[in-house]
Amino acid sequence: MEISTIGVVGCGIMGSGIAQISAQAGYEVFLSEINEDTLEKGISSIENSLAKLVEKGRIKPDEKLGAMSRIKGVIDINEFAVCNLIIEAATEKIDLKRSIFNDLDKICPQQTILATNTSSVSVIDVANATNRLERVLGMHFFNPVPVMKLLEVVKTVATSDDTIKTAVAFGKSVGKTVIIAKNTPAFIVNRLAVPFILSAIRMLESGVATKEDIDTGVTLGLNHPMGPLTLADFIGLDTLYYLARGAYEDTGDPIWIPPILLKDMVSAGWFGCKTGRGFYIYK
Ligand code: 3HC
Repeated sequence: MEISTIGVVGCGIMGSGIAQISAQAGYEVFLSEINEDTLEKGISSIENSLAKLVEKGRIKPDEKLGAMSRIKGVIDINEFAVCNLIIEAATEKIDLKRSIFNDLDKICPQQTILATNTSSVSVIDVANATNRLERVLGMHFFNPVPVMKLLEVVKTVATSDDTIKTAVAFGKSVGKTVIIAKNTPAFIVNRLAVPFILSAIRMLESGVATKEDIDTGVTLGLNHPMGPLTLADFIGLDTLYYLARGAYEDTGDPIWIPPILLKDMVSAGWFGCKTGRGFYIYK
């Protein structure tokens, strides 16, 4: 299927990143938010990100203008009727995602592909809010989207091969290397990374080492760009907690049990970088 117009639901960190790379790759992009304020913030974050690329000489000023001209911010999701592929990047709440998918299913032609960027919700549980199970899949991007080279495509029991083929082609066209996972808790990357981060939190909790030494051990000993506690703050402690709790509920595997320290920090409203406090303090 030919893709020319993309819809992105939600212009937080992930949605604005997905909109940016899609517009840079030449797609027309509809970007939606629930109110003008949030929409404006998302669009100006894309403009700033592109301006940095111009400053560094990575793109020409007219490429920035071209990309920005291809992004149309909307509040009314009915405008998504012209999109061939819609990627939902709203808050990680299953009821919200199901309601968005149900609306999109009514608005969009039957051939439109609907994808969720979820990291913690089962894709089939979102898909079954629609009447197009074969054209619903997961497209899991990584933060920061313009920098991270990976796209994880998630296939449910009902996703058609054609849908996967189109999503893989789209991922490559926006510069990503694509891997394909079955719709299982945490897919491929988070299934490896999250238990690792949870172990680091347990290690801190039980006093094995300081947070700085745990992070230094991993950055210098394993050559990761960020230590696991810094990465936890970067991902968002709330996101991490809900992801771990959901995977534990689905599998019963104790590796997913969220450490009490993580639970308490989330209850305190310390979500990491986005709230200014997590394992570390941020200005
Ligand atoms: N948007 C666009 N570009 C960004 C950016 C952002 N938010 N943050 C950093 N960059 C760019 C910088 O401009 C710089 O570009 P340049 O090389 O062209 O000058 C480059 O990335 C490196 O940035 P910095 O020099 O400022 O800092 P670092 O070298 O520390 O890199 C980082 C920052 C890319 C974020 C790096 O620390 C990193 O890769 N960290 C790990 C990120 C990661 O693991 N992400 C996945 C999280 S898990 C996830 O998203 C899945 C979800 O389901 C939980």
